[in-house]
Amino acid sequence: MWKPPEKIAYSPRGGHWPSEREVRRSRLFQPLEHGRLSLAQRTWIPAMVPWRATEEGEVTRDVIDWYRRFAQGRPGAIVVEATGIRDIPSGPLLRASHDRYIEGLQDIVRAVREASGGETKLFIQLIDFLAIKRRQPAEKFIRRFLAIGDHHREALGMTEASEDEVRETLAAMSEEELEAVLTTREFESLSMGSRERVTDIHLPHVADLPETLPGLFADAARRAEAAGFDGVELHYAHAYTMASFLSALNTRDDGYGGDPDGRVRLPLEVFDAVRGAVGDSFTVGCRMLAEECIESGSGLGDALFFAEKFALAGMDFISLSRGGKFEDAKRPKVGEAAYPYTGRSGYECMPQYLSDARGPFGRNLAPARAIRERLRAGGLDTPIVVAGGIHNFDQAESALSAGEGDIVGLARQAMADPDWFEKVRSGNGSKVRLCEYTNYCEGLDQKHKMVTCKLWDREALDEETPRTPDGKRRTVAPQWGRDRD
Ligand SMILES: Cc1cc2nc3c(=O)[nH]c(=O)nc-3n(C[C@H](O)[C@H](O)[C@H](O)COP(=O)(O)O)c2cc1C
Repeated sequence: MWKPPEKIAYSPRGGHWPSEREVRRSRLFQPLEHGRLSLAQRTWIPAMVPWRATEEGEVTRDVIDWYRRFAQGRPGAIVVEATGIRDIPSGPLLRASHDRYIEGLQDIVRAVREASGGETKLFIQLIDFLAIKRRQPAEKFIRRFLAIGDHHREALGMTEASEDEVRETLAAMSEEELEAVLTTREFESLSMGSRERVTDIHLPHVADLPETLPGLFADAARRAEAAGFDGVELHYAHAYTMASFLSALNTRDDGYGGDPDGRVRLPLEVFDAVRGAVGDSFTVGCRMLAEECIESGSGLGDALFFAEKFALAGMDFISLSRGGKFEDAKRPKVGEAAYPYTGRSGYECMPQYLSDARGPFGRNLAPARAIRERLRAGGLDTPIVVAGGIHNFDQAESALSAGEGDIVGLARQAMADPDWFEKVRSGNGSKVRLCEYTNYCEGLDQKHKMVTCKLWDREALDEETPRTPDGKRRTVAPQWGRDRD
């Protein structure tokens, strides 16, 4: 399992909080006008899945309350969590995969408009992902899921054996012995749970992704527009389908993999389809990785190339993240699925208070600056959103003045204190409740449990949550109270 080389505990720093006068002169609180993207201030709440939808992916009261609460802080923009584009069961993840979802999505839009007085722009992140299975007990995997082939018979010296005989032999073997007999992919499925990849073009639905995805994304974007969102963010980052097309590990030989031109082809086609499906004033951007942070993965050089292509194609913004991949994920327990935020790449995606010597704050700034500089050198002025461990005004303001981004994203900090934006803007930054970056929220996300913040949920549980008849506190997250100070 990957661990940071040295574990140093870092605390968030409040730094210097600006007076109202300083706020007026700041870059952070200036409006941004760029084509279809118009923000009242250069702040942004990146997508965060809070697992509050129904099992059918419908908007619930909890989902509406969650976004209303963020909107009360009046950030420049909120990106609604990764939302599925396929009409398939995906647990309590929001969906925009059918017109029946439009009405629920409208409720989020209405709540955000009301709570922010119309000041906050609202985008929704659209995601596609491939199938991933929970890790099975080894014997069950061998008996039920492993496709027996001649390579097993040969490795076992049982060339004439029946399928049942091969299974029996394998089922009696230790994991070390199995590693020598199974293919690398089969052993990975056994030890991590099986996972489809974009390179599995022997699977018809994977081979067909270039045909199916543009339409699926375009239809979902059209629904987002019908629901009243200001735009969509195409999820081209982390462990999911579109990021896997961009990945250096994408060796598809059908014109949609291999060199960077092949890897960026489908993301560009998806963008074109989406752009063509929505109105001219509707904002369309993407979230992509500045680096994959995995062995043999895409690096900054690839990201420079992709970002330039996206900007040339006319994307309205590019939001940057790093890491968050399955390839280096920790081995899940039996019965659980691999989670892409557990290895080094996961750490880079959501850096926490226990960190290496570089510390957890602002680790994405340098690559974001390089990407922005490349675009500007090519005469492209697409706004860049940068995030990752940013929690105080000084960091945010200096990121803008140093050209590390045009818009600053605060994800976990916004969860710790959704009033960050209003508090800082009104000269009350010292009242901000700082995120401690313990990744309590991410631990809940990992278990697909309702995401909360440890800085406020216990307090709310104590004071506001009804107790069960035996006096125990409810274990699910309660209302998200406003500060009491
Ligand atoms: C609970 C949780 C859920 C997240 N869900 C998403 C998501 O749906 N889409 C996405 O692009 N990033 C997601 N992220 C990553 C954040 O958007 C952000 O990039 C990351 O937390 C680093 O920024 P921060 O240091 O400001 O929190 C999630 C993060 C957390 C903590």
